[in-house]
Amino acid sequence: MPKPRSSFVCTECGHRQPKWTGKCPKCGAWNTMEEVVEAPQTSGSKHRARPAGERPAPRPLPDIRADDIARIPLAIGEMSRVLGGGVMPGGGVLISGDPGIGKSTLLMQMASSVAQSGRTVLYVSGEESAYQVKRRAERLGGVEPDLFLLADVDLHNILAQIAALNPGLVIVDSIQAVYLDDLSSSAGSVTQVRECTSHLLRMAKESNTPLFLVGHVTKEGNIAGPRVLEHMVDTVLYLEGDRFHSYRLLRSVKNRFGSTNEVGVFEMSPAGLQEVSNPSEMFLAERLPNASGSAIAVPLEGTRPLLVEVQALASTTAFAQPRRTANGVDFNRLLLITAVLSKRVGLRLSDQDIFVNVVGGLKITEPGSDLAVAAAIVSSVRNRPVAADMALLGEIGLSGELRSVSQLGRRLTEASKLGFKRAVIPRSAGRHARAETFPDDMAIIRARSLHQAIEAALT
Ligand code: TYD
Ligand code: MG
Repeated sequence: MPKPRSSFVCTECGHRQPKWTGKCPKCGAWNTMEEVVEAPQTSGSKHRARPAGERPAPRPLPDIRADDIARIPLAIGEMSRVLGGGVMPGGGVLISGDPGIGKSTLLMQMASSVAQSGRTVLYVSGEESAYQVKRRAERLGGVEPDLFLLADVDLHNILAQIAALNPGLVIVDSIQAVYLDDLSSSAGSVTQVRECTSHLLRMAKESNTPLFLVGHVTKEGNIAGPRVLEHMVDTVLYLEGDRFHSYRLLRSVKNRFGSTNEVGVFEMSPAGLQEVSNPSEMFLAERLPNASGSAIAVPLEGTRPLLVEVQALASTTAFAQPRRTANGVDFNRLLLITAVLSKRVGLRLSDQDIFVNVVGGLKITEPGSDLAVAAAIVSSVRNRPVAADMALLGEIGLSGELRSVSQLGRRLTEASKLGFKRAVIPRSAGRHARAETFPDDMAIIRARSLHQAIEAALT
């Protein structure tokens, strides 16, 4: 019987070495070396020689057929789109997000819709009991005869049951809950997560079964376990949103089978996650037309333009230092915008507390929304509304100039679809080599500076 071997693995980069060191010699991270005790190899070398017939040989690229791999279509269109047009057989998808955000709900809805189309689906639940999962499926109206549930955490049994059932789709909720008893470390540890993932992925590739794994995130927002987990799977999806709002964004951050720019929008309802086909409408639903301190920005979420309302409130401060509060926009960006407004537009803000909020709990990170933030502030200070049918686009430069924004045509088309009739955009926009086409039914006002743009917006 060979002795168990022990080695140290970096949780950041996966570097393996025989001795512990404080710093990983490969990636330079500190305190990331974790001890890994390997189970003794009972059946000789890990990479046993395969018979000649099983060994792949190189083939010319044109001989490799790629078009015969059919994706499994999903009834949930938003999810299908984020995955690149359905589920890829043999592909491993990691879906993660904060606790309670709706990962199990989304996967259960997907599982029952795939089962409804006649495929056998296995849902492995490592965290919730069979009863709890059944209750959720009932609530979602997804109790299907072809949907099987296995409440277990022992990977050997899970793999054996997969082999016996031979399902067309496997879901493991969550990868941190399952464990291999050959390893001495506890479930959820880096070694367990990595080993279990690699066993499951091998199963998926060999049997051409699509595999979905739920991964928990740490407090910092990373997927718990090593970064290598993200390298191992084909697709990494994040389900995001916030506790106080019902909308959820499904975003792909890695996709070997499609674009990483797609975002799916859902709304959490008592009957599960509902697709939102027109998210802008949802974000603008409660807007008060002609209220001061409100402006419309058109940020891109992935490749999709979204119309969102930016609100600002300026009120005379009671303190020596005026306050600045940013909700949904970057705080430093807000400071920059107020500084440019004071210096270049001549607005007196030194005695004003300023609160900025993006409606719906959305976060806008794009500088292309600067103009809407600035216009909302000026509108509140002067107590004059921005025209209700106007969208505002442009990044603000430190000299007070309005800088161009990418994909203006698509953003304006979305605004036009929602009934917006006017837009203020940077003067330089669309004047480059590849001119963009703007919607015909929109009055486009081009502004060179923030000052001009504000005057145009607040007439
Ligand atoms: P869940 O899918 O269990 O989250 P996760 O797996 O990401 O931890 O969803 C948890 C929340 O969703 C829970 O607070 C209840 C809510 N929910 C609904 O609002 N409607 C529903 O139909 C379901 C099933 C859950
Ligand atoms: Mg869950």
